[in-house]
Amino acid sequence: MKLLAVNGSPRAASSNTEILLNAFSSGFLENSQHEISRGYITRPDELLELYGNADHVIIAFPLYTDAMPAQVLEFLEVISQQRGHKTLGWIIQSGFPESCHSLPVTRYLESLAAQLGHDCSGTVIKGGVEGIQVKPRWMVRPLLKAFFQLGRSYSLDGRFCEEMVKRLHRPEKLHPLAAAWFRALIALGIPDTYWRVMLKKHGAHTGRFDAPYL
Ligand SMILES: Cc1cc2nc3c(=O)[nH]c(=O)nc-3n(C[C@H](O)[C@H](O)[C@H](O)COP(=O)(O)O)c2cc1C
Repeated sequence: MKLLAVNGSPRAASSNTEILLNAFSSGFLENSQHEISRGYITRPDELLELYGNADHVIIAFPLYTDAMPAQVLEFLEVISQQRGHKTLGWIIQSGFPESCHSLPVTRYLESLAAQLGHDCSGTVIKGGVEGIQVKPRWMVRPLLKAFFQLGRSYSLDGRFCEEMVKRLHRPEKLHPLAAAWFRALIALGIPDTYWRVMLKKHGAHTGRFDAPYL
């Protein structure tokens, strides 16, 4: 198997997608004779060449405003013009913890693989990935372990393990008690802390309510 893992984040090597793909790749390479190459949506020419040499392709990207980043769509438009049979798999990761936000784009991607005449090795949806670069290591370890195992099992049969996909998918919707707890945290402004820090870091905090088009 010649696998290409595509990082579909505009943040490229400094993205959360990269962290998940690093764990996946380590698992994939642990005991396997297979090859894996890594491509970036931010380097489309190089990516297309890597795509041509692969028989399995996994496209991993963050959910941005409930959709895929524009560069990923552009790449899909380009490869949809190309001939040749491949096995395509998808990893969608998002900030919100509920995987339901990623379901519409998932349906689109799976039907696209079929329309293009490719096999689909599955779709992994993982919510709650926002902040993994600032969380303590022990909080992120279970997630990285899950992606390591996902990579290891992919190396065995060229598919995402359905059991692991189901586990990563949870929760599709927050339990009502968890949702009530979250609403209380929102009322206290706690989930906004990260964004306040980011706005201040980039000198945009004082202008956060600007509405230039009004
Ligand atoms: C412009 C932008 C839009 C986003 N929109 C969503 C969204 O609609 N739903 C969601 O759950 N997370 C959203 N997020 C959060 C990202 O999906 C999340 O932080 C992800 O882990 C970023 O991955 P990356 O570092 O690989 O780009 C958004 C982030 C950005 C920067």
